[in-house]
Amino acid sequence: MDLKNAVVLVTGAGSGIGAAIASHFGKLGSSLFLVDKEQDTLKNAGNFLISIGVKNFETFAADISQELDSKKMVNQAIKRFGKINIVIPCAGLIRDGLLLNLEKETKKVKSKLSFDDWQDVLNVNLNGTFLTVRDCAEKMAEGGWPGLIVPISSVNKAGQLGQLNYSSSKIAISLFPKVIIGEFLLKKILNIRVVGIAPGYTRTPMLEKMNQSVLESLLKTVHLNRLIEPIEIAKLIEHISSNEALNGTTVEITGGICHSHGVVK
Ligand SMILES: NC(=O)c1ccc[n+]([C@@H]2O[C@H](COP(=O)([O-])OP(=O)(O)OC[C@H]3O[C@@H](n4cnc5c(N)ncnc54)[C@H](O)[C@@H]3O)[C@@H](O)[C@H]2O)c1
Repeated sequence: MDLKNAVVLVTGAGSGIGAAIASHFGKLGSSLFLVDKEQDTLKNAGNFLISIGVKNFETFAADISQELDSKKMVNQAIKRFGKINIVIPCAGLIRDGLLLNLEKETKKVKSKLSFDDWQDVLNVNLNGTFLTVRDCAEKMAEGGWPGLIVPISSVNKAGQLGQLNYSSSKIAISLFPKVIIGEFLLKKILNIRVVGIAPGYTRTPMLEKMNQSVLESLLKTVHLNRLIEPIEIAKLIEHISSNEALNGTTVEITGGICHSHGVVK
């Protein structure tokens, strides 16, 4: 893919991984359509792009979990740039909590994972990604433009305690590439590849919302012994965009996580 002539649509572009991807692809000369629900973070991300000399972008405020917003987003991207080539749905959130939290003495349930926290996470991470992927794919298939869709899963697709909602959304997202590429083959939609990524613990504002002592203990399972930097994820997506052999799969970028805590002597 010729990245200088590519139009890249990023959701969740106001912060963290999405913002880093925007900067990286902006520096590579791509046209950027940047979406976030938070006007302020979007504005800051836009100002940052201007400060590093990236001018070919448009920002668009939308809630990607709303079907109408998704439609408007895609229409506006095409109105502005005439096509979409790379779609990176980064908008996501966490609302951590245990399914059940018991009073130690009485064993009575003190708190439980609320239905709101369940729904908020599934609405954005799963429903929102579905809408972005579906609505962009529709136009890309009809347009016949060279295309790449990059659904964002997570290493926590393996099942993180305290994240039943988040892990459920991310295991579902990890299946998108396989199912969609199979359907594309069936329907001879051959211009679009779908390659997911599953990042490990990455230095972004999202991680600041996690319980920091839990994060510290999770980091002990990382061979690289540090957080992933968002730019490392952006560079992986740059590689994926140029390597056609990568398709229909979800690639992990974690620094090497050891899930097993058992010790064999
Ligand atoms: N940070 C990590 O360690 C990590 C690890 C694995 C996967 N991820 C995934 O990467 C993606 C980006 O995460 P991040 O760490 O950069 O998070 P972040 O919190 O820094 O950024 C997420 C952005 O999404 C936006 N957003 C949230 N809900 C939205 C909605 N309904 N409509 C539009 N925008 C919305 C937020 O305003 C925010 O700007 C997420 O899908 C996350 O699950 C992150």
